[in-house]
Parts: sequence; C-alpha cells; structure tokens
Amino acid sequence: MTLFKALAAQALGLALTIALAWMSPALFYGAWRLALVQGVAAALWSGAFRQPYWWAPIHLLFLPTAIAMLTLQLPSWSYLLIVLLLALVFWGTIKGDVPLFLSSTSVADAVTAIVERENANGFADLGAGIGSVAVPLAQHPALKVDAWERAPLPWLITAWRCRKLPNATAKRASLWGCNLSRYEVVFAFLSPAVMAELGEKVRREMRPGSLFISSSFPIPDWPPESIVDIADRRRTKLFCYRLCRPE
Ligand SMILES: C[S@@+](CC[C@H](N)C(=O)[O-])C[C@H]1O[C@@H](n2cnc3c(N)ncnc32)[C@H](O)[C@@H]1O
Repeated sequence: MTLFKALAAQALGLALTIALAWMSPALFYGAWRLALVQGVAAALWSGAFRQPYWWAPIHLLFLPTAIAMLTLQLPSWSYLLIVLLLALVFWGTIKGDVPLFLSSTSVADAVTAIVERENANGFADLGAGIGSVAVPLAQHPALKVDAWERAPLPWLITAWRCRKLPNATAKRASLWGCNLSRYEVVFAFLSPAVMAELGEKVRREMRPGSLFISSSFPIPDWPPESIVDIADRRRTKLFCYRLCRPE
C-alpha cells in the first residue's frame, strides 16, 4: 500500500505538472523548473495520501535527483549499486516500517544514566540502527545488551562495533520476535505508526517493575511514569513507562 501511494503521488504530481506546463508553457520552461514543480506536487499528494512526513523530501527530490544524475552521465551499474545500498540501509521502510534515524549522544548518555539508576542486568534496543545507543550502553561490562536490528547494513555496523564487547549481541532479526521478558530496561526509537502495537507487546511481555523507554514517540493511552527532556538538536523526549507490580 505504501509503495502504491508513493507511485500514485509521483504519477499525479507528474500529471499536474504536465497540465500546468501545457496551460502556461512560458512559466514552466526548462527541465529543472518542471522537476521542482513535479516534486512539490508529488510531496503535496503524498500528504493528501497521509504518508508519513519523511516521504515529503523523498518526493520533492526524486525527479530533480534523477535529472542531476542523468547530467552526470554515471555508468549504468552505479544506479544498481545505489538502489542496493539504499535497500540494505532502509530494509522494510518501503512497506511502511520505521526508517533509520540516529539518536544523539545526549540520548545515549541519558539512557545510560537511567539504566544505571535502574540497576539493570539486561537491556534491549529494539531497532538498534548502527548502535548509537546500544554500543555506549555496552561499555558497562556487567550489563547484557541485545541490539535488535533488521536492516542488513546498520546491523552489520552494529555487529562490527560490538565485536570486542562480549556482553553485547547484535541480533539481525525483527523486534517483533524479541522476547521482552528477558530485559529490565528496553529502549526503542521507532515511529508513531507502530507505538500502539509495541505498547501491547510491552504490556504483554515485560516483567512487573521493568522499564520501557520510547524516544520521541509516546504509547497511545498509557501515561508515562516520567518524561525526560534532552537538550539535543531535536529536543528529544524520552517517554518512560513502568510495568506495574501486582497489587
Ligand atoms: C529511528 S531508527 C533508531 C536507531 C537507533 N535505535 C538509534 O536510536 O539511533 C529505527 C531503526 O529500527 C529498525 N527497524 C524498523 N523496524 C524494525 C523491525 N521490525 N525489527 C528490527 N528493526 C527494525 C530500522 O531499520 C532502523 O534502523
């Protein structure tokens, strides 16, 4: 469905641009101008189709990038290489899953402080990316760290960064297959699209007294125990959820 919406936004953007150029040829003269108008139109259609916000720059830049690459006259195999690299990094994103964004070092520091305060033995990063949070946490030898990442290239980078850390494991697997009952603290920086389902998994599997931390995106209908404000560029908020102990 996501791919269909993306293709439809591009096609409708193109159709609108052709119609505008036909009505007013002087105003839309030149490939760059046309490509930019098509990009804006495609981004607007993407918004109308309620695609996640990060699709807007992709739509905006798609045709201008294609034109720029054609003028560079790159060898044809380089396109295959670029597509392959993008697929290895953004694995699953095309189906509507979570793209790769990196947490800041301030977030990693704040999560480290929370884990120390919690006196945790086991920590999981669900969707670990290149290990921006998991690797600093694994500097604590007494803490067992599992970094769950599905996209091949980010996973490979995390695995390489963990190679000398015996307490850290980079697992190339979907976070939905992870048994959360093994960890006292679980961290995730994902997307609003998955938070309701993830909240259910957290409630179902995490042990009473353990802590779930979601960077940037709250779980709907679950007031957090606390919210930590991070003074980084994104003004990140960490939503901390405590699993209730039985009465
Ligand atoms: C926003 S990034 C966060 C990366 C890292 N946790 C950080 O804070 O820097 C989300 C990551 O989750 C991964 N991801 C998305 N869906 C996943 C899934 N079902 N299983 C495992 N990883 C997933 C993506 O490939 C991406 O690397």
